[in-house]
Amino acid sequence: MASITVEVESTRNGNRQLAQWVEEIARMCRPDQVHWCDGSPQEYQSMLRFMILAGVAIPLNPAKRPDSILVRSNPGDVARVEDRTFICSQRKDDAGPTNNWEDPASMKGLLRKLYEGSMAGRTMYVVPYSMGPIGSPMAKIGVEISDSPYVVANMHVMARVGSKVLDALGDDGEFVRGLHSIGAPLAPGEPDSTWPCNREHKYICHFPETREIWSYGSGYGGNALLGKKCHALRIASVQARDEGWMAEHMLILKLISPTGQVKYITGAFPSACGKTNLAMLIPTIPGWKVETIGDDIAWMKFGADGRLYAINPEAGFFAVAPGTSMKSNANAMRSVTRNSIFTNCAMTAAGDVWWEGMTEEKPDELVDWLRRPWTPQSGRKAAHPNARFTTPAKQCPAIAPEWEDPKGVPIDAILFGGRRAGIVPLITESFDWQHGTFLGATASSETTAAIVGKVGQLRRDPMAMLPFCGYHMGDYFRHWLKMGEGVSPAKLPKIFYVNWFRQDTDGRYLWPGYGENSRVLKWIFERCDGKVHAHDSPIGRLPQPGDLDTQGLDLPADKLAKLLSVDIKGWLEEVPRIREHFAQFGDRLPRELQDNVAALEQRLQSARR
Ligand code: OXD
Ligand code: MN
Repeated sequence: MASITVEVESTRNGNRQLAQWVEEIARMCRPDQVHWCDGSPQEYQSMLRFMILAGVAIPLNPAKRPDSILVRSNPGDVARVEDRTFICSQRKDDAGPTNNWEDPASMKGLLRKLYEGSMAGRTMYVVPYSMGPIGSPMAKIGVEISDSPYVVANMHVMARVGSKVLDALGDDGEFVRGLHSIGAPLAPGEPDSTWPCNREHKYICHFPETREIWSYGSGYGGNALLGKKCHALRIASVQARDEGWMAEHMLILKLISPTGQVKYITGAFPSACGKTNLAMLIPTIPGWKVETIGDDIAWMKFGADGRLYAINPEAGFFAVAPGTSMKSNANAMRSVTRNSIFTNCAMTAAGDVWWEGMTEEKPDELVDWLRRPWTPQSGRKAAHPNARFTTPAKQCPAIAPEWEDPKGVPIDAILFGGRRAGIVPLITESFDWQHGTFLGATASSETTAAIVGKVGQLRRDPMAMLPFCGYHMGDYFRHWLKMGEGVSPAKLPKIFYVNWFRQDTDGRYLWPGYGENSRVLKWIFERCDGKVHAHDSPIGRLPQPGDLDTQGLDLPADKLAKLLSVDIKGWLEEVPRIREHFAQFGDRLPRELQDNVAALEQRLQSARR
């Protein structure tokens, strides 16, 4: 029965490689049926309907949040699983020291046993998708096979999916093959659970040479929506290296000055460090405006005019909900007023969602994400700290009209950053592209709930790509350096390092953040035009307090001075840590980065004297 369905369906498209692959996977996973996704609104609705009727999703009160659902996952499946994520390159050395590695043949052997019959009792969905606007010279096509309707619904929002992608693929187009199974086959007569996944085995595997992804056991976010982290970052970073472009974990924003001048800025920050908030920021300084191009991923390529152009390969936002409020991100709040998917949020008595930080006052009663009664006295969080919303980018009131421009937008500045309580100033400008690459390569942050594990530990997260670089990070740094070679500095984006999270000795944030970050963006904008002052310090160029627009900002002078101060002693203690971080890359660490540590140390020592 299953094989007949497969044959009939697969003859519908002319791409033989795709048809053969789908048949092969169906034979291995043995679903009850195969469904080729057409990407239509009706199909999206039928996924939601199925989840609702099966008890997987709850429809939210249409008077509060129309066309929206809440899904609650299993406590064992709430975030990306970095220790179960593998780069299975032919050679271990090519995965590098920051990735888990397994031999591709043995990993496939092991996984084939798990995939054998893993879709029994379920439908196998074939989701053709395009990362980037269909037809853009920078877009790439992938096909995700999944047995999860939750994944299909999310892919509808996060990528361009369906028949139009198959048309663009044509009979012999290349595509990334993504296989996903939640690993929860159903025996005849066995009832399904509300969040089926595999408790014992989770594998998120990438085969960079063959451009394949095999994900097993998890239904959650970055583990399961294969177009996002797996394709658009891990596989794409390898494609980008091979083809001379860049696939980066970056937001893209458009900054508009009061006179209507525009700069496009990308920013790499680790997960849950405010990328979505920055991408949708509402400036507090009069006359300035931010529009959004993307909140998580940027693909960048030099254009014929020598400038670096970026596209957002995604079509939606899959962003962390807790902390999102009308104060922190009104544009995100307005985006999710309808037609959105919520995961692991709490539910109100009125049938709406709630999460920590959404309102100043906590609701009197909720059902928490674990489906338990909750009151403010419960002493636990109502939403999971990595609870998410999935919402179409076009619903964002701040979306830039050109966000889907197939040629991308020309980038003026690149930001790196992370969460650092100490030493790292509010803003630092790099001396040049090479020094900027050094700043990115040494980026560090205290960890958040976006990954399974301990929260609040300091880790180096180069270019915020530690969990997402599909190859040896030493080679990745080399690729960054190479991208800047031979390009006139006037055309290259300027590189900056920001830290919104510096604290005073009592552990209080020094900088108010959110909309006030526009003051820093304004300085960056004017630096790009050479119109505002910066002074050289051992760690880079910084504004002096008077260089930042602080009009109307209620911030004591000593706090601002502290935010912009360079703690020479603290930085001298940082140098051996940077060396230790670099040591893991062995002889694949570019000499230029080694030289940059030495130069930093020397500048710090001269400043101490
Ligand atoms: C994300 C992440 O989901 O970085 O964007 O974890
Ligand atoms: Mn991310």
